[in-house]
Amino acid sequence: MVRCLLLVVKKEAISNQQLTINKIMQNKSWVSLFPEDASTFAWQVDYLYFYLIAVSVFFTVAIVVAIFYFSIQYREKEKYATPDEIHGSIPLELFWSFIPFVISMTIFLGGAVVYYNQYKIPADNMEIYVVGKQWMWKIQHQTGQREINELHVPVGRKVKLTMTTEDTLHSFFIPAFRTKADVVPGRYTTLWFEATKPGKYHLYCAEYCGLNHSGMGGWVYVMEQKDFDNWLAGSVSDQTPVQLGEDLFTNKLGCASCHAGANQRGAKLEGIYNHEVKLVGGQTVIADDQYIRNSILNPGGQIVEGYQPIMPTFKGQVTEEQLVALIAYIKSLSGDTSGAATGSSSTKSMETPKKEEPQGAITNPKIPNNRPNENPVESNGGVK
Ligand code: CUA
Repeated sequence: MVRCLLLVVKKEAISNQQLTINKIMQNKSWVSLFPEDASTFAWQVDYLYFYLIAVSVFFTVAIVVAIFYFSIQYREKEKYATPDEIHGSIPLELFWSFIPFVISMTIFLGGAVVYYNQYKIPADNMEIYVVGKQWMWKIQHQTGQREINELHVPVGRKVKLTMTTEDTLHSFFIPAFRTKADVVPGRYTTLWFEATKPGKYHLYCAEYCGLNHSGMGGWVYVMEQKDFDNWLAGSVSDQTPVQLGEDLFTNKLGCASCHAGANQRGAKLEGIYNHEVKLVGGQTVIADDQYIRNSILNPGGQIVEGYQPIMPTFKGQVTEEQLVALIAYIKSLSGDTSGAATGSSSTKSMETPKKEEPQGAITNPKIPNNRPNENPVESNGGVK
């Protein structure tokens, strides 16, 4: 009887132990060599990385072995011997030029494919805004929910992050997704991912940004769609970015007094988002996030053809989060109004929307990271 009881107690102890082990395994509290693979392109990054390591190890070993072999084989056997001179060998030279060329091209191609997959934002994405600040990440969902140092996303959805910062340079880094992008004052950078496994993953700032840089991190929670919907329903939602933007536009900042209504003095904004806009002086520019941002902070920089440079700057009056909201609102004006923009004002200010571009496309097809700043006037001006 006592033995039986002991056995039960022991069994319980073991299962408790197992539970703790499971818990630890879930929390990943030890330092593992590699973070988990939890996004669609994580394995590609790993494969490329392993390939680079394999190439380096192969040549390191080959060279070290050759050094030892040659130093023994061709050591000085007799004093002051004069060996035969060798004058070139075309096959040998072709051999040692061609093989490194092929190897370096495979590295280049692998890198290009991985880069393209990571920074070409897919069109059917779910956009989330991220504003970095010393020392926290402020996140806002399209549905209005705000988070700090936490990011909840559904599994299996393409998520696009549009990011900027209020102060200095930061870098948004999720190791488990193998993705990272600098967050730069005065401009928008984007990154995207599709999480493949529900779970809790570390999120870091990966650019030294001052005293509490090391504390500027948090967690990404990847949830099943229904859990995510529950989470959205359960958290307090603020105004959505579009609502906040509309409020700023019509009430707080008074943009509407020039940019809406019958006698507009400011450029018409319906239907411009991600479309070409003609500027004074004959240039054209795509009215993307960056252009709209520049136009709010530095209105004199790139004036739309047919309008006077009368708009005052809003620099210092709008926060980064408000700017993002204003852009979201202007974007929403282009939602389903493809005909509206062409009807009345095609001669006045802007070109007709390009046919091949789907109306309401919410993605900037360009890679902001690599794009030269289209507005040189703003490039420093935006940094406060
Ligand atoms: Cu922000 Cu380091």
